[in-house]
Amino acid sequence: MKKPTATLPRAVIMDCDPGNDDAIALLLAIASPEDFNILGVTCVGGNVPLEQVCINARQICELAGRPDMPIYSGCTKALIQEPKADNSHGFSGLDGTNLPAPKMPLQEEHAVTFIVKAIKNHPTKVTLCPTGPLTNIAMALRIAPEIKENIEEIVLMGGSITSGNITAAAEFNMYLDPHAAFIIFTSGLKVTMLGLDVTHKIAASPKQLAKMRALNNNPALQSANMLEKTQDFDMHNFGTSGRVVHDPCVPIYLIKPELFKTKKAKVLVDIFHPDHMGGTIVSFHKKHTKDANAYVPYDVDHEGVFDIMIERLGRYTK
Ligand code: RIB
Ligand code: CA
Repeated sequence: MKKPTATLPRAVIMDCDPGNDDAIALLLAIASPEDFNILGVTCVGGNVPLEQVCINARQICELAGRPDMPIYSGCTKALIQEPKADNSHGFSGLDGTNLPAPKMPLQEEHAVTFIVKAIKNHPTKVTLCPTGPLTNIAMALRIAPEIKENIEEIVLMGGSITSGNITAAAEFNMYLDPHAAFIIFTSGLKVTMLGLDVTHKIAASPKQLAKMRALNNNPALQSANMLEKTQDFDMHNFGTSGRVVHDPCVPIYLIKPELFKTKKAKVLVDIFHPDHMGGTIVSFHKKHTKDANAYVPYDVDHEGVFDIMIERLGRYTK
């Protein structure tokens, strides 16, 4: 039974692998109750192993003053590929922070079971906001394909129009689980792919870090410290002006989509060539967008994105 489409605040599930940029994406979503009714946070192995991801997600929700947030542990590794953590976030995944060990519990239910149930039981359609490998989402679609009719859309961070950041072909989230990505992009669902071509323009320069610190609250301070601690990786490898803040583009796109220039596209995920696994091939050509399967932002007002990031982080009072 199709449900009414989402109204504000839209019901969302934040599927993530914190990681410092996932952490900031979570902080922004939690600080935006007029935009997001967060049904739950689901964890997936990615930047760091799953057990550490689940510790990090709880630390961030406690930092945000939400020890009541339902957090679920999900898939440890990809559907087929062997796990490969990305050490750019440091050993803990939140290097640069000094957060206490979490006190809040994880939910007993598996993340995939939660995703299926939440979509089936919520009175309106649910928006999925994955910022890590897409394993949990793909598993939910395979276990219960009928949930598709009650998914509003998937707005994800991943992929790229041009080159990757792990291999020349593949961005990290796609690289880690190319088969899950293939399932998402062939699902027929409304998918918006926030890829490296826009996220690499969202680099935390010293000016932006100073604005974060000037907010004088712990979430903003911890965010600035994480980004500064890990900035060398992106500055050295990609020539950016600071740490790239990829994942906050997901909540910010949903808050203010007009900050992004977006076109319909045909996106193909490579699951065949051993050296290109997870590569996303994106065509905006009319010839191919007759059967478009995604909306792909190709440019962004990076100052506008940071304005929202600072404004929403500024809502924290301690
Ligand atoms: O390629 C960037 C993506 O990989 C981000 O989601 C970051 O958190 C890592 O998961
Ligand atoms: Ca991530």
